[in-house]
Amino acid sequence: MKMINMSLTMITAFTVALSTSTLAAGDAAKGQEIAAGVCAGCHSPDGNSLIPNFPSLAGQHPEYLLKQLMEFKADDSGTAVRNSPAMTPMVAEFSKEDMENLAAFYASQKATPGKVSGDTDLIALGKVLYHGGNIENGVPACASCHGPTGSGLPPRYPALAGQHADYTLTQLDLFNKAERTNDNKVMQQVLTRMSGTEKRAVSLYIQGMQ
Ligand code: HEC
Ligand code: HEC
Repeated sequence: MKMINMSLTMITAFTVALSTSTLAAGDAAKGQEIAAGVCAGCHSPDGNSLIPNFPSLAGQHPEYLLKQLMEFKADDSGTAVRNSPAMTPMVAEFSKEDMENLAAFYASQKATPGKVSGDTDLIALGKVLYHGGNIENGVPACASCHGPTGSGLPPRYPALAGQHADYTLTQLDLFNKAERTNDNKVMQQVLTRMSGTEKRAVSLYIQGMQ
């Protein structure tokens, strides 16, 4: 817990830096034009993706969306902060302004309420973990950063409610293997303690959150 608390302090400092920097509000109409042409095939025209491996973006906080888009973009040496074979080529030609517009567009869309069916025991375990963590292996409650309803806490903590379980589970695995490293090591630390069953359980529970 001590390490988590330390990171939380670091993140708070980072958050303040981000919110006082020039985060110009994007133009959602311009963002929609790009999204319709380039992004809709995978993320759906309104950002409520129908494909379990492609994340829904509708209603996500614009600051988080902008951060991800900027971090998908490779630098001159071809390295991206968030490495993604799918997304890095997508953003290669975009300016920061394009990304602000895209972030504003998806943030303005309404998220479809989550639903989940299937293994009720696993979903119940996910619910306990999400709201209370696991004292035995030191997994912190997801709710403490992502909010009790999964609505997140802008600008730093993304909304999770209703996200596809397949996508969430993939991200948890990527954090766990330290292949997704743009989280200030917060999620990586959360994941070192979680079992495979816990990862699946919490991913399913999140998909059903509204
Ligand atoms: C070929 C399919 C595809 C297209 C087209 C595509 N994406 Fe993605 N997108 C993905 C996948 C897959 C991921 C998950 C990234 C990963 O983990 O590698 C993703 C992730 C993202 C994320 C991160 C979401 C999160 O919750 O962290 C954002 C933001 C995003 N895409 C925006 C866009 C935008 C904007 C466009 C259009 C310019 C676009 N995407 C086009 C497949 C696609
Ligand atoms: C100490 C704060 C903290 C706790 C506790 C925490 N998270 Fe996170 N989480 C974050 C931060 C910060 C990010 C954003 C990383 C970034 O900017 O890319 C994040 C990102 C995520 C993402 C990626 C979202 C996306 O759209 O790609 C998932 C999934 C996630 N967290 C799930 C969880 C789950 C499940 C738990 C509980 C087991 C949890 N988190 C607990 C801080 C936290």
